[in-house]
Amino acid sequence: MLKSKVVLIGISGGIAAYKVCEVISSLFQAGAEVRVILTETAQRFITPLTVSTLSRHQAYTDTEFWQGTHSRPLHIALGEEADLCLIAPLTANTLGKLTHGLADNLLTNTVLASGCPILLAPAMNTEMWEQPVVQRNWQQLRRNSRYHSIGPGSGLLACDRVGSGRMAEPREIITKLQSLAYTQGQQDFKGKRILISGGGTREHLDPVRFLGNPSTGKMALALAQAASDRGAIVTLVHGPIAPELRPIAPDYKLISVVSADQMEAVIMSHLVESDIIIMSAAVADVKPVNYTAHKLPKQELPIELKLEPVPDILGKLGSLKKVHQILIGFAAQTGDIVKPALDKLKRKNLDIIVANPIDQPEAGFGTNTNQAIFINANEQQKTIESCSKLELSHRLLDFVRTVRVNR
Ligand code: CTP
Repeated sequence: MLKSKVVLIGISGGIAAYKVCEVISSLFQAGAEVRVILTETAQRFITPLTVSTLSRHQAYTDTEFWQGTHSRPLHIALGEEADLCLIAPLTANTLGKLTHGLADNLLTNTVLASGCPILLAPAMNTEMWEQPVVQRNWQQLRRNSRYHSIGPGSGLLACDRVGSGRMAEPREIITKLQSLAYTQGQQDFKGKRILISGGGTREHLDPVRFLGNPSTGKMALALAQAASDRGAIVTLVHGPIAPELRPIAPDYKLISVVSADQMEAVIMSHLVESDIIIMSAAVADVKPVNYTAHKLPKQELPIELKLEPVPDILGKLGSLKKVHQILIGFAAQTGDIVKPALDKLKRKNLDIIVANPIDQPEAGFGTNTNQAIFINANEQQKTIESCSKLELSHRLLDFVRTVRVNR
């Protein structure tokens, strides 16, 4: 999604600057053209040599700005060629300047000379972040539709405190930039309430043993990210997700569940307020009839396990949904994916089904990429070739728009 895009990164002076090195490296590997501006204070934390090595391009500082040896003024040239801009870390000082339109260095001049979407990733000590004047600037700047934000999250800060002010992780910043590259900042789901389920459920036999599946929740996290990046108010109800996949600065609400029964209860409690419901969870189909609250010794484990069905959440949603609600299911299939998916679409009264081949390389459970055929209730199909789960999510939201338009 970032291939051949010119991404301009402005680094201002904070300790989180070291994390931006990873962002630069990942962007380069994703095929982006990376240009980096360091403020005077940023250079106290990382050097132009570090960023020019990682970006394979000259790094820019105020020294180059004032040298004036370029064919065009540097801030104009950099501002005009950028498709996207990231400012990370955004310090209280640079935030204040941007809010009030001040331009006293290469970074702030370039921002004023550019027109592309700008992603802001603030990082500072909790006390500084919570100052009323900083919060006022932050709220004011974000009212400008050009600016998009990520974080800050909470966590251990360099001042040894645990609190808000921690910069978003590099992988979260990259995901947000990918979304911005796709949407150009368009908020076409603004205010829509989207309920998403994801990950696999676990049906326990005792506290340590369960029936489960290999779903990691990556598809649902990508859906939640894409929808919230397009302005939706998103709730993600998910089975267990590995800590390293969890966002530290999510723009959406996460509700963690374990079993299908728990997932059903949470989904049902959010149904009435939801405009769009996407069931991407790999819900276990059955659960053990008996649950033991203590760990069963090996000798007491049953040789045969008695099972009973869990609720079909999507089927229930299909029977309860109102005319204005859009219901989307996933059908993870092997072999012919269209026919069984169409059956499910009809049987469960869905508006869209995502037919997902899980027997293809790099598709399905746990992968970063996926492929699918989207089918709507009129049996119109859209084939999506292998792409990142984030891109597939955006393509699905585009497909949802066609259903909305046709209503
Ligand atoms: N689903 C659900 N509740 C269940 C099982 C599945 O809500 N107990 C949802 C999944 O989240 C997915 C869709 O139903 O969106 C299809 O899941 P799948 O397991 O393929 O459907 P089944 O109806 O169980 O069909 P099959 O007989 O092929 O297993």
